[in-house]
Amino acid sequence: MGKTLLAFDLYGTLLSTASIAKALAAHYGIKKAESMQGVWRKYQMEYTWRLNSMKQYEDFEQLTRKSLLHTLAEHGVEMKADGVDSLMQAYDGLSTFPDVVPALEMLEKVSDLECVVFSNGTPKMIENSVNRSLDLRSVSTAFSRLISVDHMRRFKPHPEVYRHLAQCVEMPGQESQIWLISSNPFDVVGARAVGMNAAWVDRAGNGWQDKLGLEPTTIIRGLEELIELVKSFKTP
Ligand code: LAC
Repeated sequence: MGKTLLAFDLYGTLLSTASIAKALAAHYGIKKAESMQGVWRKYQMEYTWRLNSMKQYEDFEQLTRKSLLHTLAEHGVEMKADGVDSLMQAYDGLSTFPDVVPALEMLEKVSDLECVVFSNGTPKMIENSVNRSLDLRSVSTAFSRLISVDHMRRFKPHPEVYRHLAQCVEMPGQESQIWLISSNPFDVVGARAVGMNAAWVDRAGNGWQDKLGLEPTTIIRGLEELIELVKSFKTP
């Protein structure tokens, strides 16, 4: 039996996009910041889907900045350019969820297992988040590669970006041995649509609610459950 590949989504799965509220709260107070972080994330994703539909591309850093500007406008607040720059910098230092570091420490020790990051983020954003952020850098050696969709000039859930992942890990045609680990239902469905497995990380325990049709291969409440999952592949 060959290696198993776990491809971790970054934003919302390893990193909490809600943790940017701390940086926003310094400007607008915590109540407004909580609302703003959700709206920022919503437009960030919406922009990627819109550009995919329009067959156009601007990188994720530009879209993260534009979706922040949209959020500021919608909340009726203004921010000077240097404030926007410093929020963008803070986006490269988002906090991890509490289960992330202990689980990656354990997964790093498992043989015949390769872990990669697979994200909409630009190579620079991913590199900054994984290798320089306070939270993730202690486990950055758990990942053999940091894979960005940027090379394809398409975003998730375009099928080409999942095929790009399979190419990058030298497993084209072996999609059934590739596992996407993601908290984002649209990402899970995108991976399932090209024949990959997907573990949906349901930290809130709300259950699968997406109604597009495809479902995750498995649902986990936290990344520590991946240890058992990976073991189950090894026992015939
Ligand atoms: C990513 C988005 C889906 O990291 O959050 O690819």
